[in-house]
Amino acid sequence: MLPELKGKTALVTGASRGIGAATAVSLAKAGCSRVVIHYNSYPEGAQAVTGRIREAGAETESLQADLATPAGIRGFRETVRARVPEIDILVNNAGSLVQRSSLADFPEELFDKVMDLNFRSAWFLAQECSPAMVKKGWGVIVNLSSIAARHGGGPGAAIYSASKAAVACITKGMAKELAAKGVRVNAVSPGTVDNHFHEKFSTKEMLDSMVKMTPAGKLGTDQEVADTILFLCSDASRFIYGQTLEINGGMYMV
Ligand SMILES: NC(=O)c1ccc[n+]([C@@H]2O[C@H](COP(=O)([O-])OP(=O)(O)OC[C@H]3O[C@@H](n4cnc5c(N)ncnc54)[C@H](OP(=O)(O)O)[C@@H]3O)[C@@H](O)[C@H]2O)c1
Repeated sequence: MLPELKGKTALVTGASRGIGAATAVSLAKAGCSRVVIHYNSYPEGAQAVTGRIREAGAETESLQADLATPAGIRGFRETVRARVPEIDILVNNAGSLVQRSSLADFPEELFDKVMDLNFRSAWFLAQECSPAMVKKGWGVIVNLSSIAARHGGGPGAAIYSASKAAVACITKGMAKELAAKGVRVNAVSPGTVDNHFHEKFSTKEMLDSMVKMTPAGKLGTDQEVADTILFLCSDASRFIYGQTLEINGGMYMV
């Protein structure tokens, strides 16, 4: 339990599975009184996660939105305004590679989808949620970058990687703007996490070679990333601003 989270309301996007689900449940276990989750296409997952949040003693509800279009992001902002106007902790976790595609074939629509989902949604959800945080003089925003932002990504993932580099960059911009107003903004940058994301986009051979390149000798877990997000939401990280924390088993050390 983290006493500083008592009475706080959190919103975690992309929490129907994976890192977002682990984060939402961890925030509830750590003492948040309300953890609202967002999902897109997997209501069964969202329902299971709200069950685990209730078991941990927090109030919850799940909100659906496709965040891969500007209209979807605008619609979700309206939903958030109506249902959870006073968010203390925002975890901008929803994201996806969407589809592997090389420069030669890359469609314009895919470019927009990847950037809207991973980058635009983080910026505009922060724009939506930060005024209430500023008003209270307390708030935390955690964005999801990726190791791909550092190495340019695997095959066909250049635009996904660029979107995650943009997330690391706006994390600094948001942090500078909001620090003096009591709102801390940071990001996490997971390495390869053993979950649905890579079941969908990577082969066993790709994952085996990742393990070989990782000093820790294994892939990451959802909980390892969630624990770092929880740290960034806690007072233990109270003097950390604008940072992107690497969680990658030692693959990149600087
Ligand atoms: N897994 C990794 O190795 C890794 C590494 C670095 C960074 N990350 C980042 O970590 C974050 C969480 O990913 P994960 O690993 O937990 O992947 P995941 O298990 O595939 O979960 C992705 C989450 O994002 C949501 N999402 C996907 N497309 C969406 C859309 N169009 N609109 C709204 N929500 C959408 C999904 O919702 P539904 O399932 O309900 O559709 C799901 O809840 C992402 O930002 C990802 O880029 C992951």
